[in-house]
Amino acid sequence: MLFMCHQMAMKKEAEEKLKAEELRKAKAASDIPIIWILGGPGCGKGTQCAKIVEKYGFTHLSTGDLLRNEVESGSDKGRALQAVMASGGLVSNDEVLSLLNDAIGRARGGSKGFLIDGYPREKNQGVEFEARVAPADLALYFECSEDTMVKRIMARAAAAAVKRADDNEATIRSRLKTFALNTNAILELYNEKTLTINAERDVDDIFLEVVQAIDCVLKNKQKAAALC
Ligand code: AP5
Repeated sequence: MLFMCHQMAMKKEAEEKLKAEELRKAKAASDIPIIWILGGPGCGKGTQCAKIVEKYGFTHLSTGDLLRNEVESGSDKGRALQAVMASGGLVSNDEVLSLLNDAIGRARGGSKGFLIDGYPREKNQGVEFEARVAPADLALYFECSEDTMVKRIMARAAAAAVKRADDNEATIRSRLKTFALNTNAILELYNEKTLTINAERDVDDIFLEVVQAIDCVLKNKQKAAALC
């Protein structure tokens, strides 16, 4: 009985430590902008992120890249992830958030801001991120027709020296289906912090709108910091 009480107290203490650590991380992360980058496969998320990094020096974390790194490691986990990605489905929330959280933890010290590319892809991913990491300041949604997205991915695949395993017509269709199934719920839930951008235009025209939105977030952060 005494042993059980001791074990329960230890468990409670460990849970409280974990909570305190998560709160500490959330507080630290809230000082710098966190921006979610949303949009279907091939809409131009990665392209715009590269330009944002160049201008603002933010840390770019693409969930697709984090998952592909894990696949490349050849681990058992990587093999399981590859099967899901090749089917065009979504990897489990826990798996993605834990990769993301680790990467944020590694980069946090010197980061000027985080671009979380390809996340959330499902409503609960957003809810869990904000509970376990920090609230997002802004979500940029790059809106694009399916036809354009398919054309862009096929062109990227044709030009690539190493083609991505999921850049084939069947998997693209399945990725589009997964995207269509989950996106409205995300946009509804995060309506207030989402800016929808027409991504059917020239890369630089799209970027002008991106810059306006990010400048606005930075200004608000500065104002909030001055009030503290
Ligand atoms: P991920 O790697 O994120 O792929 P994706 O969302 O399908 O997006 P892409 O990387 O293919 O395209 P992009 O929007 O970045 O476009 P890009 O800039 O390259 O995810 C892969 C898989 O991982 C998922 O299917 C899922 O299985 C899993 N996964 C990832 N995140 C997950 C999560 N959160 N939860 C669960 N599972 C997850 O542009 C494409 C092409 O178009 C390029 O050639 C580019 O040069 C060109 N282009 C870009 N913009 C323009 C423009 N304005 N005009 C003309 N051409 C343009």
